[in-house]
Amino acid sequence: MSKILVTGGCGYIGIHTIVDLIQNGYDVISVDNNSRSDSNMLKNAEKIVGQKIKSYQVDLCNYDETNAIFEENDDISGIIHFAAYKAVGESVDNPLMYFENNLTSLINILKCAEEFNVPNFVFSSSCTVYGNPDAIPVTEATPQKPAESPYGATKQMGEVIVTDACKGTEMQSILLRYFNPVGAHPSILLGETPVGKPANLVPAITQTAIGKLPDMIVYGTDYATKDGSCVRDYIHVSDIAHAHTLALNFLLQKKNSKKVEIFNLGTGDGYTVLEVINAFEKVSGVKLNYKLGPRRGGDVVAIYANNSKAKNELGWIPQYNLDTMMDTAWQWELKLKSEQVAES
Ligand code: WQD
Repeated sequence: MSKILVTGGCGYIGIHTIVDLIQNGYDVISVDNNSRSDSNMLKNAEKIVGQKIKSYQVDLCNYDETNAIFEENDDISGIIHFAAYKAVGESVDNPLMYFENNLTSLINILKCAEEFNVPNFVFSSSCTVYGNPDAIPVTEATPQKPAESPYGATKQMGEVIVTDACKGTEMQSILLRYFNPVGAHPSILLGETPVGKPANLVPAITQTAIGKLPDMIVYGTDYATKDGSCVRDYIHVSDIAHAHTLALNFLLQKKNSKKVEIFNLGTGDGYTVLEVINAFEKVSGVKLNYKLGPRRGGDVVAIYANNSKAKNELGWIPQYNLDTMMDTAWQWELKLKSEQVAES
């Protein structure tokens, strides 16, 4: 059974990926400093998979503590590296914190991968590496424009660091460029748990709908799009998770023609902010209290994926549509509220 180290394992995409990996026969170790994640997610994941999940609470910026994990766990076949800060707006306000955390943790895990001869590395990248693309949908060959935020810059730099780290070693890698991950696990035992006021659209919608937030703002309705609001490619988090399992299968079976392969993970469908709100209202039956406001700095006007490479080479077929993304996100928000009520 191949052993996979998942950094950021308690995070939104990390925990969903751990469940998918285990359900597909992998042995998993989670590493997370829980600065931005809830270690209770591991307990919920254990309920889904019906087994304990080995985990370490370690900050990857601490090289010695990171190295000790590899000393204790030999024969690690692959690493999936999620651990990073990922709030676009926060990165604009705290660029050096983002560069220090996201790049130091990446360099430390790569140094350990080299020292312990880990052969496979999957890097959590992002569509933000495309910046504001001239043409959409974007393919993996679409030239990268300047990143719109320090967060996006850390993903652009991260891809270069991983690519160059592979050049000097036997390690092969896959860079997965997520579009907009949303929704919750069908069991409604896992979902997004934003720390503080959510920056992202879907948790802002669900928290407004349940009354945690008084209202939400649509950032800009004067863009050159069908209804003036921004276009994004929303992808269910479980579809993103399964792509990681397929990426590891691909590398372990040495199907890659290049040492470093890149894949877009999006549905290939773009929806405007107002279309997402309408879909949520239809699915939940809740009339959302939103206002039309000014543009948000750093926003890309429109982006969605050409996902044919992931479909053709990884055999990845997204399973969930926008309505299901909205429904699982809403069911998760309702679950969080019911647990809060139970605890009070
Ligand atoms: C989407 C749209 C907002 C909140 C995200 C992640 C980033 C990366 C890419 C993985 C924008 C609008 C939002 C609100 C709004 N993912 N919006 N009101 O900026 O595309 O980036 O996906 O790496 O990590 O942050 O996602 O959900 O913040 O915004 O109108 O209250 O929703 O302006 O047009 P974004 P988002």
